Amino acid sequence: MRFRRPRGTQDFFGDRMRSWAKVEEMLAALAGRYGYSEIRTPVFEVSELFVRAVGEATDIVSKEMYVFTDKKGRSLTLRPENTAPVMRAFIENGLHRAGGITRFWYQGPMFRYDRPQAGRYRQFHQFGAEAIGHPGPAIDAEIIDLSLAVYRMFGFEGLEVRLNSVGCPVCRPGFLDVLRGALEERRDELCDNCGERADVNPMRIFDCKECGEIKSRLPVITDHLCPECSEHFGGLQSILREMKVDFILDPLLVRGLDYYTKTAYEVLHPGLGGQNALCGGGRYDGLAEECGGGSIPAVGFSAGMERLMENLPEEFTGKTGLDRVDAFFILPDSSAAAAVLSIAGRLRSEGVRISIDLSGRSMKKQMRGASDSGAPLAVIIGPEEIEKKEAAVKLLSSGDQENIPFEELAARILQERKNEID
Ligand code: HAM
Repeated sequence: MRFRRPRGTQDFFGDRMRSWAKVEEMLAALAGRYGYSEIRTPVFEVSELFVRAVGEATDIVSKEMYVFTDKKGRSLTLRPENTAPVMRAFIENGLHRAGGITRFWYQGPMFRYDRPQAGRYRQFHQFGAEAIGHPGPAIDAEIIDLSLAVYRMFGFEGLEVRLNSVGCPVCRPGFLDVLRGALEERRDELCDNCGERADVNPMRIFDCKECGEIKSRLPVITDHLCPECSEHFGGLQSILREMKVDFILDPLLVRGLDYYTKTAYEVLHPGLGGQNALCGGGRYDGLAEECGGGSIPAVGFSAGMERLMENLPEEFTGKTGLDRVDAFFILPDSSAAAAVLSIAGRLRSEGVRISIDLSGRSMKKQMRGASDSGAPLAVIIGPEEIEKKEAAVKLLSSGDQENIPFEELAARILQERKNEID
């Protein structure tokens, strides 16, 4: 074997590919039911976008980005996340001029150079939604509800919504000073990593697995929120309660991206162990300004597709039958290939799904191929059939065979597909 796929990436094919495609289709339909429309942005962007939006001191920017220089010396980055690109596109295309709320959903690959393990990849996929243009908590509730609808649709149980407010540029600096002070007093209890980042990014200590004991004795952001953040947070909680959405207030919840203001949340799956966040999101009212737009409030979430797919109930992961053909064409003599390809071309334009055995192998082997394909019908066309302008059609379930004129072939095959569905 000369080449292997890069570490932390995956190949998708067969049943797994089919269930991904099916789930993607269901997610697109779900987003549509919430009034979100799809957006596709490039998989790479100017590096500076992520440095500014996600934050220089975050793990994502400082350690995990796939950065490369193009032939003109520009620094580009494979997107590690899609909120910044969506905001960039929103501003660049002048969509803010329309006013109101713009609702986008997206799906696609993201790239982070992290240590691969169960549920964590270097190329992974996200389904996400962003609602841009409204400052009130009702839209935060809509986003949280949509993210939960994803898992409801697939029958997930026992999920936990962890909710926090991470404040805003008015109240956070004051809290960070208080936190730095508290960390300074306990400096010798901190792990090396947290000791180093205590000044630059002190809130990241809440994410540290080693400093567990100290965390519970540190001041929390929710005791230091300004009146506006406090009101927003209270408002969101009462809307969620009224909607009967269960949540757990978690003042230690921080997110690995710096753009958040006010709402931050995660949906956890207790069965997932270390990588237990199925999805995460929150409000990012300062991002538009950071990207060169005006002051535009926004909120969104992204769900990890691998973590969704790897925990799907069985009914969505089995054989979907989506790729199955309606008829498997068998050629007793490969000299008939051109004629059969032409006949199949006409039938395909009428919607018939056909696989043709062009291998030239024995009839017995081609017949076996027909049963393995899962097609209900084998259609045999050799020089004799071409001469008579009819095909020998074999119903694979019973072995019954009949001759069908070429012009009636499409109708006969489609009839069999309908019989199968009924
Ligand atoms: P995030 O928490 O970095 O947020 O990622 C969201 C989700 O993507 C995670 O909860 C997880 O399911 C999945 N994920 C992240 N990294 C990996 C990985 N290496 N392998 C597999 N799955 C992974 C964001 O990306 C924000 N853009 C979310 C957001 C949208 N906030 C506002 N709008």
